[in-house]
Amino acid sequence: MKPIQVGLLGIGTVGSGTFNVLKRNQQEIKRRAGRGIEITMVADLDMARARAIVGPDVTVVNDARAVLANPDIDIVIELIGGYGIAKALVLEAIAAGKHVVTANKALLAVHGTEIFAAASAKGVMVAFEAAVAGGIPIIKALREGLTANSIQWVAGIINGTTNFILSEMRDKGLDFDAVLKEAQRLGYAEADPTFDIEGVDAAHKATLMSAIAFGIPVQFDKAYIEGITKLGAADIRYAEQLGYRIKLLGITKRTARGVELRVHPCLVPAKRLIANVEGAMNAVMVQGDAVGTTLYYGKGAGSEPTASAVIADLVDITRLHTVDPLNRVPHLAFQPHTLDQAMTDLPVLPMEEVVTSYYLRLRVADEAGVLARVTGIVASAGISIDAVLQREADEVGGEGATSTDLIILTHDTLEGTMNAVLAELQALPTVLAPITRIRKEELN
Ligand code: HSE
Repeated sequence: MKPIQVGLLGIGTVGSGTFNVLKRNQQEIKRRAGRGIEITMVADLDMARARAIVGPDVTVVNDARAVLANPDIDIVIELIGGYGIAKALVLEAIAAGKHVVTANKALLAVHGTEIFAAASAKGVMVAFEAAVAGGIPIIKALREGLTANSIQWVAGIINGTTNFILSEMRDKGLDFDAVLKEAQRLGYAEADPTFDIEGVDAAHKATLMSAIAFGIPVQFDKAYIEGITKLGAADIRYAEQLGYRIKLLGITKRTARGVELRVHPCLVPAKRLIANVEGAMNAVMVQGDAVGTTLYYGKGAGSEPTASAVIADLVDITRLHTVDPLNRVPHLAFQPHTLDQAMTDLPVLPMEEVVTSYYLRLRVADEAGVLARVTGIVASAGISIDAVLQREADEVGGEGATSTDLIILTHDTLEGTMNAVLAELQALPTVLAPITRIRKEELN
């Protein structure tokens, strides 16, 4: 059978990895797909670089629309990124009846509803394994491998840049700013790392996992997002003393009242495997009612790891493209609304309605009665304290013997209740600095 023909939009790090792996493993991939898969056309503004990567047998153009206009192209791989031109090209590819493979988490997290609806109407597939956790096949696991389960929660380290920074902060005892500069110098962090360090990239990925896990539409605008920029070395050290590591987690949970969707730094028990995921590696935990807790670990970015996910999608599409669209695996795991309301409208809960436990650090005056007053306020809100640690401020390079760091771990409580307690604590004259609040997840 004639090979399936693929057009590639954007041949940077992931695109070149995809081309190279497809070529290197072509025989094995063909045996798996049942048909050859060939990139026959590449669009990139840097045509000389593209030509150097793909050689003379592949058509290179600088106009992506020339790829979409080519009737021989069956699948378009979009590796341009962002919401701008990439969105227009994906919608145009769908309208032209082409299947789409993309690594663009931002595009799907924000415009996924429109894109998946257009694809369903046209009867084409939009595959996005590479959009979440790079080479880890977490989309496949959630959508297919765990399909028997009522999924209860998903929690993942889904941004390698921030995990690298947190690992370095812990190893070297440094604050965020110093480590970020070093990470940029070494090329681990982008020159503009905003999406990574502010948690936006992780929230795009968590949004996609949430939709697949719970059968809800993608709702990036409802995600709670907090990055790692305010974390200090002292909190990482105190967490360690209490038996925890701090990780930036993307979390989505099913509750009786709705779905939690949040990204923020989190204390995780040091004994959990996920707490020991270091450097730029990614890991995702999924809790299903039948399977229990599962863990997926691997490289979340990089040329060939991400290419591995892109090519898995190419193989899936090659296997399934002759199947009646209604018999394919749905884009987001659940059948769309047109089929007996299979997608649900379970609401995404506002952060005030999330229930979790907390690490609080208060710089307080070292005077009689301060601890009792602080714990009294916490207790009168009905919040149960799990552990208290007091460390002299001079031990942490603070303001000398007159102040001390008070660290409190709480049991589960409503975020709204905690917000009110924090406002009350912050107003105490004996609380000398802004209170640090980091959420805590036991993940058991
Ligand atoms: N910038 C991401 C990370 C990789 O640091 O994990 C692509 O999503």
